[in-house]
Amino acid sequence: MGKPVPRIREAVSPRPGPRVHRVRDAAATAAAKSPHTPAPLHVTTCAKVNLSLEIIRRREDGYHEIETIFQSIDLADAIEIELTSDARIEIECTDASIPTDERNLCHRAIVAMRPVAGPSLGARMRIEKRIPSGAGLGGGSGNAAGILLAVCRGLRLDVAPEKLARIGATLGSDVPFFLHGGTMLGRGRGELLTPMEPLKQGVFVVVKPEVSIPTPWAYAQPTFGLTSHRPRLNLRAANSVLARFPRSALPFRNALEAAVVPAFPAVARLLEELLSEQPCFASMTGSGSAVYAIFTHEDRAVEVARRFAQRGLFASVAKPTRQAIEIR
Ligand code: C5P
Repeated sequence: MGKPVPRIREAVSPRPGPRVHRVRDAAATAAAKSPHTPAPLHVTTCAKVNLSLEIIRRREDGYHEIETIFQSIDLADAIEIELTSDARIEIECTDASIPTDERNLCHRAIVAMRPVAGPSLGARMRIEKRIPSGAGLGGGSGNAAGILLAVCRGLRLDVAPEKLARIGATLGSDVPFFLHGGTMLGRGRGELLTPMEPLKQGVFVVVKPEVSIPTPWAYAQPTFGLTSHRPRLNLRAANSVLARFPRSALPFRNALEAAVVPAFPAVARLLEELLSEQPCFASMTGSGSAVYAIFTHEDRAVEVARRFAQRGLFASVAKPTRQAIEIR
């Protein structure tokens, strides 16, 4: 099983309307005294699962219009970041398979903040990865959202939430979601967000097979069912189901399973195995390869996760969170 999961206690997320980031902690006091070299910030960034994912149509720009329900969970990465004014970006990462150069989303997040924070914005950061990549868990997107918020907090920038979301969307379709977290409907390519009834109950078991799946591959498959023949999501009905969960079953599916499951037998097998444990719900998340199941009792979730972990697979128990980013 994964390492003990840090619980998200107090998270930072943009609220509607312009807002000055109020900072009361020691790091912020030091930052205020020395605006060019703020004290290091500790950023915790959650993973997400998609409770539902429907593909509406292929767009001219190569993206797909989707309708998805995001849920942040407390499986999280930890980033220590020191903001600098020497325009250098240095990244250390505990996962050797993740590039630490300009391809890293945290690197791109710093560059994307320069028009707001100044051209000399730089950073030194250390990313402790607990969220597996290539899994559909949004680990990289969450890291990027964490960096955007950390720059605002560290430099005491008053950036309108809509502007931050626009910057986030240039980094990835689900980065705007991570600026908020919780339970959210995502439309457009995933960046047009509507808050939903928060999922209060349920314990997630997230399992990832050995294989990783690049998102563009899954969306490029012609085999997934476009939703044109299905009614679009009824927000009120979906909220009512979420509010009553687990007393009422989740009537959702992930349309990308139709592309991924036939091509990756390992994903198909894990989904079947999870379903045989009789959870309240089970699905692939995003474009895979991770799958998850929701149980009502934590003991049961821990027992199921342990069995997968004993086979050498990534397996983690996680709870739903109301926000996706915490900064200390
Ligand atoms: O936005 P993001 O960088 O996460 O997307 C990665 C790739 O996934 C896109 O380049 C596109 O191929 C595919 N995608 C899509 N429709 C979406 C989201 C992602 O086709 N709504």
